[in-house]
This record gives sequence, structure tokens and C-alpha cells, in this order.
Amino acid sequence: MCGIVGYSGAQDAAPILLEGLKKLEYRGYDSAGIAVLNGNSITVSKVTGRIANLCEKTADGKNCPGTVGIGHTRWATHGAPTDTNAHPHLSNDGKFAVVHNGIVENYMSLREELIEKGYRFESQTDTEVIVHLIEMYYVGDLKKAVIKTSARLQGSYALGVVCTEEPQNVYVVRESSPLILGVGVGENYFASDVTALVSYTRNAIYLEDGEFAKITPDSITVFDPAGQPIQKKISRITWDIQSAEKGGYEHFMLKEIVEQPRAIKATIAPRIKDSEIVLDETELTADYLRSIHKIVITACGSAYYAGCAGKYAIEHLCHIPVQVELASELRYSNPLIDEHTLLIVLSQSGETADTIAAMKECKKRGAKTLAIVNVVGSTIAKTADETLYTWAGPEIAVATTKGYTTQLAVLYLFALYAAKKMNRLDDETYGKLLETLITLPKRIQETLDMNSAIPNLAKKYHTTGSMFFIGRNTDYAIALEGALKMKEISYIHAESYAAGELKHGTIALIDEHQPVIALCCNDSVMEKTMSNIVEVKARGAEVLAVTFKENQKIVSLADDVIFIPKVETIFSAAVEIIPLQLLAYYVAKENGCDIDKPKNLAKSVTVE
Ligand code: G6P
Repeated sequence: MCGIVGYSGAQDAAPILLEGLKKLEYRGYDSAGIAVLNGNSITVSKVTGRIANLCEKTADGKNCPGTVGIGHTRWATHGAPTDTNAHPHLSNDGKFAVVHNGIVENYMSLREELIEKGYRFESQTDTEVIVHLIEMYYVGDLKKAVIKTSARLQGSYALGVVCTEEPQNVYVVRESSPLILGVGVGENYFASDVTALVSYTRNAIYLEDGEFAKITPDSITVFDPAGQPIQKKISRITWDIQSAEKGGYEHFMLKEIVEQPRAIKATIAPRIKDSEIVLDETELTADYLRSIHKIVITACGSAYYAGCAGKYAIEHLCHIPVQVELASELRYSNPLIDEHTLLIVLSQSGETADTIAAMKECKKRGAKTLAIVNVVGSTIAKTADETLYTWAGPEIAVATTKGYTTQLAVLYLFALYAAKKMNRLDDETYGKLLETLITLPKRIQETLDMNSAIPNLAKKYHTTGSMFFIGRNTDYAIALEGALKMKEISYIHAESYAAGELKHGTIALIDEHQPVIALCCNDSVMEKTMSNIVEVKARGAEVLAVTFKENQKIVSLADDVIFIPKVETIFSAAVEIIPLQLLAYYVAKENGCDIDKPKNLAKSVTVE
């Protein structure tokens, strides 16, 4: 939800800001802008639409000379995506410019107060109050003005602030929104995430909530909320530049689909030592795991659906009840959670506002929290009691693919690890399942290799206005994610349904205009789902089935079949989702959709 960048150094700032914004565009892409300090004036350039428009408007930054600046790419919350509402916002006296990621919850009352004091508002944004507050509190010292302003703000904010009176300095503040400082030589940076920094530096400082910093070409000083300087550790960024670039693929999404075998291997392999799962990043001891009464998994979007699939593996192996809750619901549900609950929090970005709030609520009630997160140093990773990283590398396409499957991989690892610690599994079964887990990357590679027909299937199905995804049990969990992928990138209405539920109403919608994607990869319910295929066929639907290559019976029932290699049911979701990701991708491509940046969406949802 919005990306921010900043630079203070000896080079022209604008091209660096624009490059950084391109990397952050996945966070929001309805409008963008930069502000560059040039002596005692600020040049601001803002456009509606993509960063490409901003590059055009500024002649790739050449029209904005100056070596210090800030930039922003927006996902509109308050006020439509217009040039005026785009950031940076300027103070009335033209001396200050601000970029903001987050939401100022008390902006209405602050706006009234500032209007009463004579400040003039240009935009409908919540952000504009920040720049007027800074102007109001500025008495020759930007640091003091930033402290006083921050104290007035409620909500979440990562801010970048520049001022003509201090032309070398950029101030940044972090409160519940991500912000990372990049440490260079004779130049320094800030950004919402490391992808915008890696081309320039691998040395990063992660700010904590409430901290702020002054960035100059030669120094970065970090302060606590009271303004006292504090020492911060410099961390090494391990993500490489190539992994945040398309590498010859037409879209990030396709590249990330193809990267899944490698991402899953990177997630699983380092945690297996001498045929044992070792989760020594955590303190999930046998005593602790035996003391819990239930597990609650919480997340949003695809991460929630990964939780739905993971539930089957954990319940099956650990014999412990698992509840999967949408974070936006859990946070307000007065949940029955105590110290005997383990809360598993799933998040690719580690910054999803609802997930953070649900986690804090459950922590308050005594639950231990285990985060499964992709972004190192993210809020969720830092707030949780225990963290297991997914080693997917940067995921740029808004629709998650490798982020989702690596979450499944960690859930599988956890399920097997916990089952062993809890004495719920004999050694032989443990050994066999571990072998299956280790070979998952191979199975996924085979799935990618054997599905060259999917682009042709997409040509057949892309004209439909609506489709159903059906399945039972683990297949139903995959139907949920498969339908979401189709909706978010192709804009085709897609509904996931538990196959056994169809007859309770929804079957009324089935006719020759509703293709049905039938998932049949769970042996225990395979025959049942096949009966449901017969039922929808009888009502005229075209059926595209996904099943194991051994299940040839289905060929005579379905119109089209996608085969995948056979995998142990409790781990099959990670393989079964692959053709559905590819189907959504090629359908969206047929329909000419903007695959990596679907309309109205953002990758990191830092607002409620
Ligand atoms: C957004 C993204 C989804 C993602 C969800 C949760 O909606 O578009 O791809 O699954 O947020 O994000 P998280 O970063 O918490 O996994």
C-alpha cells in the first residue's frame, strides 16, 4: 500500500528515486510523484498512473535537478487517484515536502484544527495534515518539528520529509509501516522495502516502530521517539538483484511460478539434517508442543488459503484441532484464545495490517505466536515470539505464487516436526513423509514440465464470464486459491465450492456457460468428486479436471484433463496449485490483462 523512497548524496536524486519507485510499484500504482531539493527550492512532479508516466513527464528525472529527494507510488485510500492527491505533498510556504505510506486515523480532527489556524488544503488525502503540522511546528529545527508532528499522529505511517532550510537532510519516521535505511558511501537511502535498495547498497538498517532518522550524504543518525540518538545494527541484504528482475520472462508472475521448485528447496533443505527436521530458529520444544490444546492459523488472502491447506496436514499428523481464521475477522471476534493456543501467522510481506492486529490481539490473550514470513525484518517477523522464514526470495507480481507454496512448505515442515515431537507419528511413517517432502521440488518441476498444453486450454476457457472451482477436503483448499488466482489477474468471476455443497443451491447456476474446474487429487474423496463431475456435466457444464496421471478413469468424464504427478495427499496442495496458477496466468494473458499489477490491488496491504 504505497511505496516510498528517498536519497541524499552527490548524484542526481531523481533518476535514483524513479528507479526505486519502479521496484516498489507492486505496492500501489495509481499515481506517483517525486520532490527534489535544489538549493532553496523544491521541484515537485506528480502524475496519475504508472511510474512510466512520471519518467516521461520528468524526462527520466532530467527535469528535476538536485541531489536530495523523496518519491512515492500510491494506492489510493483517502481521495481519488489524481495528480493533486498524489504525493509528495507540499506545505503552504513551499518549504517542506512529505511522502507517506500508511493511514493517519485522526486526520479529520487535525485537518479542522489546521484549517482553523489558516492552513490551506489542496488535496483530499490524510497525508496533507502531516506537512502542514511540520510547517506549524518548524522553528528552525526540522528534527524537533518531526518529533512534535509524530506525537500528534494516530495510525500507521512511514514518512519521508525534506525541507529547503536543511537542503542536505532527509528525515524519516516509522510507525507501523515498513521503512528501511540503505547505507552507502557518500550517499544514503531509504525505502519501503529492500528491493528498491539492492541496486545501490546491500547494507541496511531496519527501523523499529517509533524510531526516526536523519539521513545526510555522509551519515545516518537514528533516534528514539524522544529524540535521543541510538546505535543500530547494519544488516546485510541477501536478496540478489536478478531475483527482483524479470530475467527474460514476460511477466514476474510467470518467472515466479517457474521459480517454485527452487524456492521450495531453499525453504525445506536447510531445515533437514541427518534425516530429521531441525527448526533451531525457534524454541518449539516437545514440552511446549505437548502443552497446547489447539492451533489457530490466521492470515489474509492467499496466505489464508495456504492456512486452509496446511490445516489438513497439521490435524492429520498432529491430531490437534486447527482453526483457520481470516485476520480481519479474528481481530474483532473476541477470540477464545489463551496460553494453550499456538497462533500461526502467515504472511508473505510480514506487513499486512489486519494480520498484525490479529496477532497482537491473540498475543494479549496469552497465545504463543509463530510467524511464517518471507520478508526478513518485517513487522510480523519482529513481533512474533517465533519466526520461520519462507526463503522464496523477492516476490514482485501482486498475485502470489511462490510466496503461497513456500508457506505450504513451512506448514508441512512444521506439521511433521510437531507430530514427531508430540509422539504422534512412528519413525517409519515420519521417514516416508519426510522423503515425500524432500522430493516436492522435483514433483513441482515435473508438473511444470508436463503442462505445456495449458496455454491452449486458456484459449478455450478465456471467454467465459464466470467459472466454478470444486473439490473436497485438500482439493477444496486448492479450489479456494485457484479461484482467487483466476479472479485477481483475469477479472473473470470464479467461485470456489466444496464439491459436496453444490447440490444445496449453487447447482442452480450450472449450465453450458459455467465451466467447472474439478480438483480430484485426494484419493479418499476422489470417487465422490467424480460423481459431482457427472452431475455438473448433466447440466451442460464443460469440465476441466485436475488429477493424478494414474487416474485415467476421469478422461471419459471430463472434457479436458490436466495431469499432475502423484503425491501423498497431505502434501499434494503444493503440486496441485501449479496448473491453476498457470491457467490463471494464460487466461489473463489471452484477455490482455495487466498480469503483474492487476487493477485495484496492491501486494502489501498495510491498511485495514
Ligand atoms: C494481498 C496480496 C495477496 C496476499 C495478501 C496477504 O491481498 O495481493 O497476494 O495473499 O495480501 O498478504 P501477505 O503479505 O500477508 O501474505
